[in-house]
Amino acid sequence: MRTYLKKLGSASIVAMAVAVSPAFASGSVTGADLNSGKSIFENGKGDVPACTSCHGADGMGNDMMGTPRLAGQIYMFLAKQLDDYANDRRQDTTMFVMNANAKGLSPQDRKDVAAYLNSIGRIFSGTELQEASGGSDIAALKESGTEIGESHLGKALVNYGDLDRGIPACLSCHGHNGRGVDPMYPRIGEQKFTYLVSQLKKWRDGSRANDPMKQMQIVAQKLTDEDILNVATFLTQAPQTTMGNSRIPVEHLP
Ligand code: HEC
Ligand code: HEC
Repeated sequence: MRTYLKKLGSASIVAMAVAVSPAFASGSVTGADLNSGKSIFENGKGDVPACTSCHGADGMGNDMMGTPRLAGQIYMFLAKQLDDYANDRRQDTTMFVMNANAKGLSPQDRKDVAAYLNSIGRIFSGTELQEASGGSDIAALKESGTEIGESHLGKALVNYGDLDRGIPACLSCHGHNGRGVDPMYPRIGEQKFTYLVSQLKKWRDGSRANDPMKQMQIVAQKLTDEDILNVATFLTQAPQTTMGNSRIPVEHLP
């Protein structure tokens, strides 16, 4: 138990150190053209439709369509997902569109749109970071008949895991409230509920298997349907509350 906690502790310290490193914040987006990325997002390119038509004009995702929030997601993670769709390492089994979309873009286009998506979804007032909330309206989902979970039980799993069942705390990789850790651990806080549930089930049944060293498949195989609803209910409304945000532009770092 003590070693486990110790490990956890040092993992999150390392994660925080990485998250505030200006080298990661700036270096990873070198060579991307934000204007080209914006144009692809809003207008599409060639046969590829505008990303906004499914992911929303603000890139915040859509529960009805089951699409994820992309705005403010970690650049390297987005670029990897687009490459994985393009190379059939990840299959879009939800709408069967993302593989075609990614193949229709050049490697440079994919970089450009990933960098643009990383750059949107937040507002600065002075040096204060204000996040636009991308989370789902849980009350509205419940009313429409969607099965949801217990937020406090989800919070316990995210923060502490479940030692008896061998489930690690999600925050040990994804950071506090799932805010994401550059460059490989995606932001899962304030992600859309429907998308969180669908991806956790896909990791669990192996229909999504593009995670390095099976990191997510190993975790998801230990989750029950209830666990999945509980963590998704908590995470979709878990705001970024702490420093160490990997996505603050370099000029805003202390
Ligand atoms: C017709 C609807 C549709 C359009 C248009 C669309 N997407 Fe998607 N996108 C989806 C769906 C559905 C998923 C989830 C698929 C899955 O489960 O793998 C997704 C997933 C993604 C992901 C994975 C995100 C993550 O968190 O893992 C990225 C990145 C992405 N889309 C980028 C784009 C970009 C860039 C465009 C525009 C060039 C675009 N999408 C256009 C429907 C769409
Ligand atoms: C050992 C590290 C690790 C732990 C612990 C972990 N994850 Fe992950 N998770 C990852 C990695 C790495 C990815 C991205 C894989 C990829 O590149 O496609 C990921 C991706 C995800 C995604 C998909 C995000 C997206 O936008 O497509 C979800 C959802 C997720 N994790 C939820 C969880 C939850 C919930 C927990 C806790 C029960 C958890 N993870 C614990 C490493 C981890």
